[in-house]
Amino acid sequence: MKAIVIDEYGGPETLQEREVETPGIDSDQVLVEIQATSINPIDWKVRRGYLKQMLGFQFPIILGWDAAGIIREVGANVKDFEVGDRVFTRPETTDKSTYAEYVAVDEELLAKMPESMSFEQGAAIPLAGLTAYQCLMDFAEMKEGDHVLIHAGSGGVGHLGIQLAKSYGAYVSTTASSKNVDFLKELGADHVINYENEDFSEVLSDVDFVLDGVGGDVLVKSYEVLKPGGKLASIVEPPNEEEAKERGVKASFQWLESNGKKLEEFARLFKSGEVVPTIQETLEFTEQALQEAHQKSEDGHVRGKLVVKVK
Ligand SMILES: NC(=O)c1ccc[n+]([C@@H]2O[C@H](COP(=O)([O-])OP(=O)(O)OC[C@H]3O[C@@H](n4cnc5c(N)ncnc54)[C@H](OP(=O)(O)O)[C@@H]3O)[C@@H](O)[C@H]2O)c1
Repeated sequence: MKAIVIDEYGGPETLQEREVETPGIDSDQVLVEIQATSINPIDWKVRRGYLKQMLGFQFPIILGWDAAGIIREVGANVKDFEVGDRVFTRPETTDKSTYAEYVAVDEELLAKMPESMSFEQGAAIPLAGLTAYQCLMDFAEMKEGDHVLIHAGSGGVGHLGIQLAKSYGAYVSTTASSKNVDFLKELGADHVINYENEDFSEVLSDVDFVLDGVGGDVLVKSYEVLKPGGKLASIVEPPNEEEAKERGVKASFQWLESNGKKLEEFARLFKSGEVVPTIQETLEFTEQALQEAHQKSEDGHVRGKLVVKVK
């Protein structure tokens, strides 16, 4: 099968097109023929070698951890899926993933796509959407009427998180640059703070939950806006738990644990029109297109998602 691989850590030019063996499946896995995948910042962080100690991957590495496609084979123990099903998934974090024509995926990480969802939309949701879900629903246990602050609202995680939070009845504040203010209002955000000329920590207070997708100073200042007993999740770097304790709030680093059942919730919210991904650009499945996409993601200002049409 065709794949785009890296044989060493480094810049975008390390992404190379290659013929590799189609993966085999275990008894509890399915083989997905990938129609679309998407770019996430973890792709270039792995490519640069930032996560090599943590992940212990072997070259050649096939990056990419989102897929939408069609099941072509099922393992003997697979119960709820069959050949021909249209599915979307955030596969396990392995070194043979979704910049490829096929990927082997555990049944428990799959969800069926609604008829009305395109493969491009299906590929835009899993990693970013499930991350937002884990932070807002599992960690923060968000309730109707809560005030949540979602940093980097126009990014992959943020723009899905805003829609998810609105669908559960939260009041949503978010941060972005001037070019994304109108976009975020249209997505449903109640209060958009333009970080170029406003400091969120001076205009917000009594926030129930902060989702930090930026880190650094943004994370440090986020404690200031929380109400006593509030919660903060960073998906970028571990927050200072001592400081959290002193301030009477709960802070945590969240690392996504993929889950097909939670992805089914996105299928439901997509059908009702409550959560729809924004796709900045759909790219061809070539090494040059992926190299350019990695550069854009690394520059840090993608609106919504970059999607790759594999088929
Ligand atoms: N721990 C996990 O499991 C996990 C899972 C998913 C993602 N992540 C991490 O979370 C981060 C966000 O992921 P993502 O997929 O949402 O990234 P992304 O799509 O690349 O985010 C890009 C967005 O960030 C915004 N942004 C940049 N600087 C900002 C600032 N100072 N304040 C507010 N917004 C800012 C940009 O808006 P403007 O153009 O308006 O600046 C842009 O729309 C990444 O570091 C990623 O690696 C971690």
